[in-house]
Amino acid sequence: MIKINVTKASSSKLSDLDFANIPFGKVFSDHMFTADYIDGAWTDLKIIPFGDLGISPVNLAIHYGQSIFEGMKASKMNDGTPVLFRPELHVERLNASADRMMMPNIPKEIFMEAIHRLVDLERDWIPNEPGSALYIRPFMFATDARLGVQVSETYKFIVVVGPVGPYYPKPISLLAETQYTRAATGGVGEAKTAGNYAASLLPATLAKKRGYDQVVWLDSKEFKYVQEVGTMNLFFVLKDKVITPTTEGTILKGITRKCIIEILKSKNITVEERRISLDEIFEAHEKGELLEIFGSGTAAVVANVAKFDWNEKSIVFEDVKTHKIANGLRDIINGLRAGTEEDSFGWIEPVRSQVSAS
Ligand code: COI
Repeated sequence: MIKINVTKASSSKLSDLDFANIPFGKVFSDHMFTADYIDGAWTDLKIIPFGDLGISPVNLAIHYGQSIFEGMKASKMNDGTPVLFRPELHVERLNASADRMMMPNIPKEIFMEAIHRLVDLERDWIPNEPGSALYIRPFMFATDARLGVQVSETYKFIVVVGPVGPYYPKPISLLAETQYTRAATGGVGEAKTAGNYAASLLPATLAKKRGYDQVVWLDSKEFKYVQEVGTMNLFFVLKDKVITPTTEGTILKGITRKCIIEILKSKNITVEERRISLDEIFEAHEKGELLEIFGSGTAAVVANVAKFDWNEKSIVFEDVKTHKIANGLRDIINGLRAGTEEDSFGWIEPVRSQVSAS
């Protein structure tokens, strides 16, 4: 039995929220879960009012980056039951990131109890609008206060939640990044660690100045093979198959990516996980065999790609509404979350209702 102390906020910010107009990642609910790792064990598990943290200026995570996170979603079924989407995959991936970054694992029971209790308490924050959800951000960071480059002995694990609309409300345009790289073999590309996102900011900003939404990362040796977008994994729909790059330790093992592969296989659509080069993509396009490109991620769900440029070459899809695979997958995933699509995969987990303040 996991004991979580709950201290409720004295008032709620919920009435200030315009559910029809929620920007991604700017609105957070009234409470958060926190736990501390001290002397080799997770202690002081609690739900408290959402608020600032007191941090030492010599906190190891700030200086050397031992910081990892997950992105999950909770939604409401037709009958109002709050549900989670494949939460066990998120704790597994968080712990894989922890292993790579020399951080402690969070026991599955603590992770699950934290998520269930917090979402149960914040159920009124779950939006009903199609494609919207309660975004759940579990994260862990080092808390030792010293400046030697070393493994921290203490950590904090926190979960915050907030309502979100679609991450990319419009079809996106991408630029193949031929100067900077995100991850090399043997690096931390597969870990969901803060520094990977920091490293993406300069190239993404330069691309945005040129009118693109994001960059497409390429392999760091030859700048030839496609990796991922940073906020999403990528899929290429050819005439007779769907291809997504193999993760190979350099690409995030996306949970939506995994779901998409499983959905496509269940529909007898051929999916290939393998290296895919820019040459192959642009040749397929020239032959008229490239039908769709889309990205996948928890925040993005399934994002249509309208444009993909590589140096002087350009792929443009005039009307992504005709993209049957991407749009069909988005409908299935959103439908599973809303309960309008039968959960034949067993991916939906109802939130346990047991809130009590102490
Ligand atoms: C997610 O999809 O949940 C992510 O973590 C990507 C995020 C950085 C927007």
